[in-house]
Amino acid sequence: MRSAIGIDAIGISVPRAYLELGELAAARGVPPEKYIQGLGVSRMAIASPDEDPVTLAVEAARRLFAGAGRAPDDVGYCAVGTETAVDHSKPVASYVHGLLGLPQRCRVFETKHACYGATVALLGAAEWIAAGSARGRSALVIATDIARYELGSPGEPTQGAGAVAMLVSERPRLLELEVGQSGSYARHVHDFWRPLHRKDALVDGQFSVSCYLEALDGAYADWKERAGGPLERTCYHVPYGKMAYKAHRRRLAADGIGEAEADARFAVEVAPSLAFSAQVGNVYTGSLYLALTSLLSGAGRPGAGARVGFFSYGSGCGAEFFAGRIAEGAAELCDRLDLGAPLEGRARLSMPEYEAIRGGDASPDRLAGAGAPGRLAYLGVDGRERRVYSADALR
Ligand code: HMG
Repeated sequence: MRSAIGIDAIGISVPRAYLELGELAAARGVPPEKYIQGLGVSRMAIASPDEDPVTLAVEAARRLFAGAGRAPDDVGYCAVGTETAVDHSKPVASYVHGLLGLPQRCRVFETKHACYGATVALLGAAEWIAAGSARGRSALVIATDIARYELGSPGEPTQGAGAVAMLVSERPRLLELEVGQSGSYARHVHDFWRPLHRKDALVDGQFSVSCYLEALDGAYADWKERAGGPLERTCYHVPYGKMAYKAHRRRLAADGIGEAEADARFAVEVAPSLAFSAQVGNVYTGSLYLALTSLLSGAGRPGAGARVGFFSYGSGCGAEFFAGRIAEGAAELCDRLDLGAPLEGRARLSMPEYEAIRGGDASPDRLAGAGAPGRLAYLGVDGRERRVYSADALR
């Protein structure tokens, strides 16, 4: 029986500035083709000092509510998946709850498992509704992160930042999830990790690629035993576009399909989901859902009823494969939501500006595009190390 639980609306946000990967390549003495064709990334979003996972999450949710005609008063579950949290105890979801003015009768929490963190929040939301706990309310699930590696390291061109907010409800207008039908995989590995004192992640890059592909084998095999069947499109976790290309080959190989056919199908089945990430980079927890947003927005988007597969991977590692169907009227709603608008009109950073941000000696007003009116800003900490946001000053 088809589920009537799923994603009702989406909103995204990205930092207001970006770095051209061609410029990074020139500075690092690498041919630009290595980043642009070899990894499949053209630009990466760079968060300014007044942007953090909270401001990105709130902006994504605000766009969602403004565009979707849904009220925050109906939210009974607010979960934020992030691996770049701002506090060891107080969850990002708590800031989001307050800054959006969500109801007090609300389950509010943060989830972590590297890039898989938002998936467990999303599937949990669908199961919360299926269990009858929602009582007509909807769930707000937000993936938000700032991806950072050391300057000059192989991971540097795979940074990025952004948030994806999703409203999960009964009678979803974008995607009906096949609730309770996902396939899981987990294995304790050190492919990517970030000890509590570090801002930049550590990674064993080539090993992480093989862990991702093995997790795909495992989660997909589990999913095939539970659900299986043909998929018209697939969205993969996208640390960089080439990884999704490798993943598609690997998944189809598990179905006995050779590389030539996999490559031919890639253009229709996967490529449209990669347009946004090529402009933003890795947004960690949000990468899979940025892929969905890109798929729903562009030319060649799937029609109502099309079945879409999703592969979520989080280093460490945990993974899940699940599926859903495009809802009736999704295309019209996506046009109204204008999902890609935050990618337009961003400011281009120079290498010195980018390195100043990373060095921690950039103040927001020195940066291109600073002070955008109406945007929530992180202002710093007060005398008791409590984080302060521009909206707090308005209360
Ligand atoms: P690297 O080792 O410097 O790059 O870093 P490479 O030598 O593997 O080259 C990359 C690609 O560019 C290769 O393509 C080259 O052939 C090609 P492939 O063979 O893979 O198809 N290339 C060129 N193409 C055109 N013209 C040229 C040229 N030169 C080379 N001139 C690596 C790559 C991904 C390892 C690095 O960027 C890294 O460590 N990134 C961070 C880790 C990562 O993204 N891992 C992905 C899987 S794990 C994951 O997705 C989880 C994650 O999101 C974290 C989480 O869960 O929270 C990371």
